Amino acid sequence: MAGGVVISSSGGKVYPGHMTAFVFFSCLVASSGGLIFGYDIGISGGVTSMDSFLSEFFPSVYAQAKANKEKNQYCKFDSQLLTLFTSSLYLAALATSFLAASVTRIFGRKWSMFCGGITFLAGSALNGAATNVMMLILGRILLGIGVGFANQSVPLYLSEMAPANLRGMLNIGFQLMTTIGILSANLINYATVSIEGGWGWRIGLGLAGVPALIITLGALALPDTPNSLIARGYTAEAKKVLVKVRGTSDVHDEYDDMVAASEEAKAIEHPWRNILERKYRPQLTIAVLIPFFQQLTGINVIMFYAPVLFLTIGFGGDASLMSAVITGLVNMFATIISIVSVDRLGRRALFLQGGTQMFVSQIVVGTLIALQFGTTGEGEMSRTYAMLLVLFICLYVAGFAWSWGPLGWLVPSEVFALEIRSAGQSIAVCVNMTLTFIIGQAFLTMLCHLKFGLFYFFAAWMVIMTTFIALFLPETKGVPIDEMNLVWSRHWFWSKYVVQAGGSNRRTHDVSSHH
Ligand code: BGC
Repeated sequence: MAGGVVISSSGGKVYPGHMTAFVFFSCLVASSGGLIFGYDIGISGGVTSMDSFLSEFFPSVYAQAKANKEKNQYCKFDSQLLTLFTSSLYLAALATSFLAASVTRIFGRKWSMFCGGITFLAGSALNGAATNVMMLILGRILLGIGVGFANQSVPLYLSEMAPANLRGMLNIGFQLMTTIGILSANLINYATVSIEGGWGWRIGLGLAGVPALIITLGALALPDTPNSLIARGYTAEAKKVLVKVRGTSDVHDEYDDMVAASEEAKAIEHPWRNILERKYRPQLTIAVLIPFFQQLTGINVIMFYAPVLFLTIGFGGDASLMSAVITGLVNMFATIISIVSVDRLGRRALFLQGGTQMFVSQIVVGTLIALQFGTTGEGEMSRTYAMLLVLFICLYVAGFAWSWGPLGWLVPSEVFALEIRSAGQSIAVCVNMTLTFIIGQAFLTMLCHLKFGLFYFFAAWMVIMTTFIALFLPETKGVPIDEMNLVWSRHWFWSKYVVQAGGSNRRTHDVSSHH
């Protein structure tokens, strides 16, 4: 009964779908765009804690880290050039997301993913072969361009392909791949650090070519989404793809709804100007605030700098990389919890629970570090103490992995109307990357100045964002992507901005009157 129409309790139509092999494999391949995103996140923290890498490319940081060994723990890695290596990627990604919006809209989601794959390939080659800082940074910029394309197109692709009742699960495939990418990077760092001759980092940076190849070839093989095909005038092909992904030929109602959404979208000439209109205020708010808050959870402090952070609190080199492997494992497994529960418990429940757990863990981590290092940054940690710290960092990572991590990509990708979807997603990518850049760039300096207070800083943001979710995020589970208008028009606050007339009722009526 995949095509049967049911009226949900909220009054919107749902088209209960099942997991067909076709939708599963299409989404699996597209999700692999997350692999490279994750790999890039995980690899730089590891290589920047390797002596051989530091002494070759950042000799002054290397000298500083060695000289400061017994002194202020909070400040020993503070270097703008070193963080620029990590964060240049995000700068390139945010600039690219706007170009990617046009490619995604005009040529389709598929070709945007392909562009991502190709630039990834070039970037990893350049990085693996780097002989100077310029080559390193240029390579990171190419990788960033790839991320700009992939993070723009993949989440949209997944949300459009999936039947509404499985959309959360399928979309989170992207985040799962991201965490697998991070974990692989952590493992490769661990395995290559002790390679004689100190060129292990080359393997780490060059291996990014593997996931790059997967998404490049994958994108060539994938069909585009029905929504994107319709919007670009390939209606016959769109219907074929829809029949395949839903596994039934009974897709007429859903197809008609997509056509209607596309007709409405065509009437809109300037998606960028349009998204600023009052009636899109709720979507715009979500597109900006969700990625903004996602980064202010502070997660990338752990993801980028876990090894450096663990070195800071007195772990040895190997133990630091090992701890990063542990947080990487927790990150991956906890994402699976999100996959199986997001379409049942809903987005809100995960956000609220995960947010609370992260808040508590941050307070504990900050306090543990304060008790040990105080404000002078001097001291050493006992084994039990360090274990306790790692435990709470893991609880924090787990909370993120089933809430803000996956939902930070899922929610923006599913709330926009078709006419502003591509533009809206670029805004989400752009905000995400800007904040990732700022935090990546500022973290080591912030640690040096705010000391343990840094963790309280992020904890305070957790309170703000959790309150925001409680008050302003309507539940979107199970709502068809082209019926999303309903959730805003029924929300206590957003109904001031969105009137129901633009929703499905009128569209369905229009379409059936054409029959
Ligand atoms: C975030 C990344 C983060 C990763 C960690 C993603 O959702 O966008 O910034 O590093 O999750 O798993």
